[in-house]
Amino acid sequence: MLNKTIEKALNEQVEKEGYSSSLYLAMASWAEVKGMAGVAEWLYAQSDEERMHMLKFIKYINERGGKAIIPAFKQPGKEYSSVKKMFEEVLKHEQFISSSINNIVALCVTEKDFTTQHWIQWFVNEQIEEEANATKILDKLNLVGDGNLYLFDRDIMSLRGEEGANAADAT
Ligand SMILES: [Fe+2]
Ligand SMILES: [Fe+2]
Repeated sequence: MLNKTIEKALNEQVEKEGYSSSLYLAMASWAEVKGMAGVAEWLYAQSDEERMHMLKFIKYINERGGKAIIPAFKQPGKEYSSVKKMFEEVLKHEQFISSSINNIVALCVTEKDFTTQHWIQWFVNEQIEEEANATKILDKLNLVGDGNLYLFDRDIMSLRGEEGANAADAT
């Protein structure tokens, strides 16, 4: 049975994962309208993955005798000044999510909830990958500069690598 402190922290993470999904969906739509089909595809896939993360938290909370609450999500941005600026925001957001997951790990130790501490390790590893992927994309964008993004847009899906396989394990 989850204690109330852990349940509250996990429900807050439901909101953060759901917001991540909305954020990447908004970015995907922006990129699609701008004609960047590859970037949009990457972001749509990322949005799906975040929804899976949210579901993972919802199901875990309910399975452990808690009650998952589905929150309202704040509206993500509508405009980005450049693809690079957008991916900088992706990296910043993933760093924020990583610190949030780390805070839950710390809370699990304080609350002696070693079951949840063990369970959430999947997310600790996932965040290493999420940050690495965003960094890898930013490195590529720094190489091409603000000029011609045609090849970047064409090749971005190949940068997803193992992540897709990982996402399939998420449910
Ligand atoms: Fe996530
Ligand atoms: Fe993420």
